Amino acid sequence: MIRFETAGESHGECLVATLTGLPAGVPVTLAGINRELWRRQQGFGRGGRMKIETDTVEIVSGVRHSQTIGSPVAMIIRNRDWQNWTEVLPVESAADSEEKKKKLTRPRPGHADLAGAIKYSFADARYVLERASARETTARVAVGALAKQFLAEFGIAVLSHVVQVGSARLERAVEWEEIFELSLRDEVLLGCVDAEAEARMKEVVDEAYRTGDTVGGVFEVRAKGLPVGLGSHIAWDTRLDGRLAQAILSMQAVKGVEIGEADEAACSFGSKVQDTIHYDREGQRFTRGANKAGGLEGGITNGQELIVRGLLKPISTLRRPLMSVDMVTKEEAAAAYERSDVCVAPAAGGIGEAMVAIVLAGAMLEKFGGDSLTETRRNYDGYIQQVREF
Ligand SMILES: Cc1cc2nc3c(=O)[nH]c(=O)nc-3n(C[C@H](O)[C@H](O)[C@H](O)COP(=O)(O)O)c2cc1C
Repeated sequence: MIRFETAGESHGECLVATLTGLPAGVPVTLAGINRELWRRQQGFGRGGRMKIETDTVEIVSGVRHSQTIGSPVAMIIRNRDWQNWTEVLPVESAADSEEKKKKLTRPRPGHADLAGAIKYSFADARYVLERASARETTARVAVGALAKQFLAEFGIAVLSHVVQVGSARLERAVEWEEIFELSLRDEVLLGCVDAEAEARMKEVVDEAYRTGDTVGGVFEVRAKGLPVGLGSHIAWDTRLDGRLAQAILSMQAVKGVEIGEADEAACSFGSKVQDTIHYDREGQRFTRGANKAGGLEGGITNGQELIVRGLLKPISTLRRPLMSVDMVTKEEAAAAYERSDVCVAPAAGGIGEAMVAIVLAGAMLEKFGGDSLTETRRNYDGYIQQVREF
């Protein structure tokens, strides 16, 4: 129902994103997209690159007079660092091109460097890392911002917070309002709602800095205001849990996905895990005893808050490089070092929000369709009435 693509190299001219399938009439603000791009760049533990870039979006098609017009939306985010790379990554070779290449022949363990170089038959992994880099997620966040602006028309919001950095965990339950307040902050530290837990997380990041190491973590994405009935149990590829997992796992450095309390559920008895069903006669609606399922049953939204977590491995590029092998000489050598982040959990939360928003916008359009927002809303309102009468 909606399709998006991104293009661009980490140190190339710009990142490009196209999004096709949003109905006409969705209000769009550049400030809204730029705010999301700004959030992606923040976080205690980011490296030097984010000090160079101040990401802002240019929309070059599909939006006119602050509204989508139904045609593909194309967006550009320029890389400021490009001015330092024009001779390293030119489109056309010049006589001295070979000398100016910043060759990467000592692949970094944990990166696409070696497998990508072998696969694409490059003696230098530069082109691989340029595309494998998470700089690409800037374009995803721009697309996610549009998806969020569409979802907001139906009272749906998507937010995130950090629940773990290394061994430092947030141990208490968190209300939606706390995450909402966090999203309004103009300074993103570690993206944790709890000051005491955030202080413990910062200590872990500081230790990683001191020792030339990196550290992973867990971010949690939540969506509120979803209707019952997005996604379907009828086939493996219509289940929304599977689609969300793919979207989150497609993010660089994410190695696991948890929906609801999956980790705890795996070591509990069934009687402790399922969300009991109740009926509120006054409000004439079904209610639940808890939300351990994270808002999904049988791959279908059940009207509760959606809760999805992404488990990040520690960043692979280390200031104290790991052992590798030079791809040309085949001699053992320390892996290459590229300017790098130490902890990306807060930024990853923002990217996770974008991916979840894109999947949810797709699921909404699949269910309600419509070439204009008016048509989508009419279909949505009719369904909500049907649910009320159930
Ligand atoms: C927001 C974000 C920023 C990242 N920054 C870096 C970085 O500075 N250095 C690095 O080595 N990896 C970084 N990564 C992770 C790599 O892009 C990723 O580990 C690599 O492309 C290999 O992919 P895989 O870990 O998913 O297998 C970052 C990931 C995210 C989500």
